[in-house]
Amino acid sequence: SISDPLKVMISGAPASGKGTQCELIVQKFGLVHISTGDLLRAEVAAGTEIGNKAKEFMNAGQLVPDEIVTAMVAARLSREDAKQKGWLLDGYPRSLGQSQNLEKMQIRPDVYIVLDVPDEILIDRCVGRRLDPVTGKIYHLNFFPPETEEVNARVITRPDDTEEKVKSRLNIYKQNAEAVSSSYSNITHKVDGSHSKEAVFKEIESLLSQLQYDKVKIMKSG
Ligand code: AP5
Repeated sequence: SISDPLKVMISGAPASGKGTQCELIVQKFGLVHISTGDLLRAEVAAGTEIGNKAKEFMNAGQLVPDEIVTAMVAARLSREDAKQKGWLLDGYPRSLGQSQNLEKMQIRPDVYIVLDVPDEILIDRCVGRRLDPVTGKIYHLNFFPPETEEVNARVITRPDDTEEKVKSRLNIYKQNAEAVSSSYSNITHKVDGSHSKEAVFKEIESLLSQLQYDKVKIMKSG
């Protein structure tokens, strides 16, 4: 096994394809996927104190306060599986405060992937998105419809996926993007996320394979 596992951050606008690519990255590289959106949605579904606090912000398409999200991420990153297998942080940091929190905890990734997708594509992707509440799989009405009638009957729409809320989420993303990415400018890798999901993954896969190879080489020589 690798004793210095990969640490990956993935960012990009709402519906740029982070969750979709993370499914593929996890299958290939076995990293622990930590999605703040997924973690928060699970808290909301379970009706926890965190979930009740987060719900109104999420449904309005706004950011949940930093202290709630940061505590959640710190707890998840410190678990043994993330240390052993490496991690894939999806949707965090999303504000300058959040990236400063990571610096304080001395948490830095090997690579900062940015999925770059034009605005007009993002709206279509959000509005057509459906989620399978049983498996957590992400679908799209036109691009990736559910495979079976059974799944088709149970998929749900996210409350923050209306056109109006997507526009608000996109604005918030744009307001924060530069401040957040400036912390990672020397390890940033921009990927064109407007292609097919297979084509996007091909680029990410070769990037991460190369990184992993380089890490093993450094360990053997050091
Ligand atoms: P979060 O769940 O992180 O939402 P997001 O960043 O807006 O990202 P999305 O989940 O909308 O999109 P995605 O990039 O994962 O795209 P996907 O793969 O699904 O956060 C939700 C909310 O939680 C926030 O608004 C906030 O309130 C709160 N929150 C989360 N993190 C926080 C933080 N750190 N601080 C504060 N608050 C926080 O793809 C989208 C659609 O497109 C799907 O239908 C998919 O099938 C389709 N698709 C994907 N790739 C392709 C492709 N290549 N071609 C065609 N279609 C594609």
